[in-house]
Amino acid sequence: MIKVGIIIGSTRPGRNGEAVARWIHELATERDDASYEIVDLKDFRLPHLDEALPPAMGRYANAHTRAWAATIDSFDAYVFVTPEYNHSTSGVLKNAIDFLYAEWNNKAAAFVSYGSAGGVRAVEHLRLIMGELHVADVRTQVALSLATDFENFRVLTPAAHHAGAVTAMLDELLAWGGALRTLRHTRQARRTSGAAAPARCG
Ligand SMILES: Cc1cc2nc3c(=O)[nH]c(=O)nc-3n(C[C@H](O)[C@H](O)[C@H](O)COP(=O)(O)O)c2cc1C
Repeated sequence: MIKVGIIIGSTRPGRNGEAVARWIHELATERDDASYEIVDLKDFRLPHLDEALPPAMGRYANAHTRAWAATIDSFDAYVFVTPEYNHSTSGVLKNAIDFLYAEWNNKAAAFVSYGSAGGVRAVEHLRLIMGELHVADVRTQVALSLATDFENFRVLTPAAHHAGAVTAMLDELLAWGGALRTLRHTRQARRTSGAAAPARCG
């Protein structure tokens, strides 16, 4: 069964992100075609990136990095729940993404955003980042407006039509998450047999 991590992309006291992630988790677990788990960045307490070697080398020195890597490695696909901060995603989510490399590779990702314009600018930036990490990002996204999907910008009251987008988004995510498993297994088998991995130039 495909394992999906729903990542809460904000750690701010009073954040809206947690309610959004719990709503997605609730809708997702009504399906029986995958397992879904919330991943709360607050639980990992990652500092600003403090690894001496580039993440692509996969030689993590710090216990917090190894714990984060083990969690991210355990999923086939992700739903990033992101706020929009200054027309981008949050610094805390970008930092958490930057910590790792191989753990993200050849997985699938979907986005649920929120902000005054639905958080869509945050997702556009995330899509660029995903490309660098060999993550396949699905087209359908869920964009919640702070003005119409929240009461007083604080209490989540999502409009009914978003449920359809959540279904379509998860359908796409599971299809790609499943398809990419084959690629991951082939690469893993190559590594185990000692064949050289392609060089990373970027
Ligand atoms: C530092 C900061 C910058 C923000 N910039 C934007 C922005 O550029 N566009 C927008 O629509 N909302 C912006 N907002 C509003 C947030 O999207 C909104 O407060 C949201 O609830 C933040 O997510 P969180 O509550 O999960 O932290 C900003 C909020 C903060 C704290």
